[in-house]
Amino acid sequence: MQIILDNVQKYYKVGKDKLHVLKNLNLEIESGEFLMIMGKSGSGKTTLLNILGFLDTLDEGRYYFDGNDVSGLKENMRSQYRANYVGYVFQQFNLIETLTVFQNIEIPLIYAGMKDKNQRRMLVEKRLEDVGLSDKANSFPNHLSGGQQQRIAIARALVNNPKLIFADEPTGALDSETGRDIMGLLSDLNKSGTTIIMVTHDLDMTKYASRVVTLKDGCFVKGDEI
Ligand SMILES: Nc1ncnc2c1ncn2[C@@H]1O[C@H](COP(=O)(O)OP(=O)(O)OP(=O)(O)O)[C@@H](O)[C@H]1O
Ligand SMILES: [Mg+2]
Repeated sequence: MQIILDNVQKYYKVGKDKLHVLKNLNLEIESGEFLMIMGKSGSGKTTLLNILGFLDTLDEGRYYFDGNDVSGLKENMRSQYRANYVGYVFQQFNLIETLTVFQNIEIPLIYAGMKDKNQRRMLVEKRLEDVGLSDKANSFPNHLSGGQQQRIAIARALVNNPKLIFADEPTGALDSETGRDIMGLLSDLNKSGTTIIMVTHDLDMTKYASRVVTLKDGCFVKGDEI
């Protein structure tokens, strides 16, 4: 797995104005990294993560994913990349309240087209075990604590063995002790080979990172980019 951004630009249209949100970004990310993207509110962190994670598109420049130019992919191809290569963890967990924990974790497997129910069950159970919540399979998300919900979200992100995990402020809605647990879990995942790209504005989190880049007004602070 390798990611290369070459002179990436992103604009948002706001009324008649064009807001230049990402400016001339160059970045290389190698397999096995735990990369943190820092920066103040509004500096472009989520926008960058969404582009890297195939949730949004860039306007100019090139994005190479494993050597393939994915800059101009249409939505149906981007959804295939999402289903097959990446997992997401969000600040607000984004679990579906009407589905059980088991069903939430199963969703990416259904999206990826896995028809065999027993195979899906085995994979979901394995991930529940990995995050230490096997006994919660039949619970509903709103009966769990924030930390437990984030563990479920991590199990969901991992269930189809993604090469890459994208995490946007994954500890932002948690108290600091629960946040440390979640960072421990992400750290263990990284040590066992999963590449992690995480957005944070918490300097304390950088001790878990193998590399930190900082955005300021849509640009990398000098010296950060490679
Ligand atoms: N859909 C949108 N339409 C217009 N402007 C947007 C949109 N999304 C983000 N922006 C603007 O783009 C800039 C970057 O936003 P972004 O969400 O990437 O920042 P961020 O670094 O993630 O901030 P935070 O730390 O608050 O989450 C901000 O000025 C924001 O107002
Ligand atoms: Mg953000």
